[in-house]
Amino acid sequence: MQGEGQGGAPCLACHGNDGAGNDGAGFPRLAGLNAGYLAAQLRDYREGRRTNVIMAPNAAHLSDQQIEDVAAYYAMQNVVAKPAEQPADLLAQGEKLVKQGDWDNYIVPCETCHGPGAQGVGATFPGLSGQHPSYLRQQLEAWKNGTRTNDPNQLMLAIAARLSDEQIQAVSAYLSQLPTSGGKP
Ligand code: HEC
Ligand code: HEC
Repeated sequence: MQGEGQGGAPCLACHGNDGAGNDGAGFPRLAGLNAGYLAAQLRDYREGRRTNVIMAPNAAHLSDQQIEDVAAYYAMQNVVAKPAEQPADLLAQGEKLVKQGDWDNYIVPCETCHGPGAQGVGATFPGLSGQHPSYLRQQLEAWKNGTRTNDPNQLMLAIAARLSDEQIQAVSAYLSQLPTSGGKP
């Protein structure tokens, strides 16, 4: 299975054949993300631990084998992100959060868990670099609002709850500009 989908709409209709996703539509980039992370998210959608009205129906009919196959396929893709330009002051604020955190508000640097350049660490800590800013914002807001709850030990809930709306904008803008791990998770 190479992203052609099963039952629901084909994956490529939203995520693209190469997994590039779409910023305007809020479809995440899947290319180059760790296969174990992608598979875990698909099982979570299928079993209702991660809820989203657009994505959940597409995972509902996937078998374990199809999940492994499609995750391996997108993990191997390498799209060169062409991020939209972002204001310099926002980027500077975002860079600080990613590398240094915000200790006054007990926010640990994102790189502590997501690795140098936020390129991801294994199946647990997904790469954030080169991800679409609209999707990054959606996820941080989802944790803040309590609509994404599938993170291990509520590690992300604890972070997102402390981020201001401005910090969410800034960190999403900055992360979107960073180079991805290039399909070698
Ligand atoms: C109709 C559009 C659409 C289709 C078709 C679709 N997706 Fe998605 N997908 C989304 C959206 C929107 C999200 C973000 C949902 C959220 O906020 O949880 C998403 C999220 C995901 C994620 C989570 C990414 C991450 O970084 O956590 C994975 C993995 C995924 N999709 C894989 C697939 C696969 C595999 C298929 C085909 C079987 C597929 N999608 C089909 C729209 C779609
Ligand atoms: C204590 C460890 C930890 C720290 C620090 C951390 N994260 Fe995370 N993050 C995680 C884990 C674990 C996940 C995967 C959650 C899951 O499996 O659903 C994650 C997932 C995410 C996702 C979802 C990615 C996707 O593809 O859906 C975003 C966005 C995110 N983190 C942003 C951030 C930002 C921004 C920071 C810094 C302000 C940060 N994280 C700091 C542990 C951490």
